[in-house]
Amino acid sequence: AAGVFNSRSLDGVHLTITAGPTREAIDPVRYISNHSSGKMGYALAAAAADAGAIVTLISGPTNLPCPERVTRVDTISAQDMFDATMGTLDNCQLFIGCAAVADYRPSSIAEQKIKKDNDSMHIELVRNPDIVSTVAKHSKRPITVGFAAETQDLLHYARGKLERKNLDLIIANDVSNTAIGFNANDNAVTAIWKDGDCQIPQMGKSQLAAQLISLIAEKFFAAKN
Ligand code: CTP
Ligand code: CA
Repeated sequence: AAGVFNSRSLDGVHLTITAGPTREAIDPVRYISNHSSGKMGYALAAAAADAGAIVTLISGPTNLPCPERVTRVDTISAQDMFDATMGTLDNCQLFIGCAAVADYRPSSIAEQKIKKDNDSMHIELVRNPDIVSTVAKHSKRPITVGFAAETQDLLHYARGKLERKNLDLIIANDVSNTAIGFNANDNAVTAIWKDGDCQIPQMGKSQLAAQLISLIAEKFFAAKN
């Protein structure tokens, strides 16, 4: 029944989760990245392991320790993260894309450190593959959950991503408010699915992660328990 979950709500469920930023190399000493800390993804990995899931955490570069009972795969670029994720899909029932994947990478990586020869310079960028949408198109498609990081029109853009990426659930995150989201310890989100939504007010990321894991377990694994 609603609101009644034991602590093993994802018992034996194989979960792959991406977390943290990616780094896109420009030359041997420089890269493009973003402010993601990985805290939300790591908190979700920990909460899922607590709920009995078998968790593979595909992590970009972070300063966080690996949660207990979680297998971490370290990656750097979006392409690395993509490859590592695809490698888990043969045996994956639930995927959560929490990483702040760089949308673009330099079209080529300079072999040597770029010198400041000119007053201006251009770096050509090309699109990275979209990990969560590729997962959602896979022949062994797991239940697929994404995040939407927005600075404006949060719910509108998030619902668009839910549909475009063919997700089961999207967690909408207002990253214009520095008290929540990206580098903060707290978060507040709206979880959105095809025919409903649910607001989760501002709280610590581990508490919020436990609530999101309960919601995912209730909505998508209820029949299996
Ligand atoms: N995502 C992904 N692979 C990418 C880009 C994004 O898996 N190359 C995932 C993120 O992990 C997140 C979701 O897609 O779960 C939405 O990411 P977001 O950056 O909000 O959306 P984008 O589709 O990249 O659109 P935009 O940045 O233009 O808003
Ligand atoms: Ca993006």
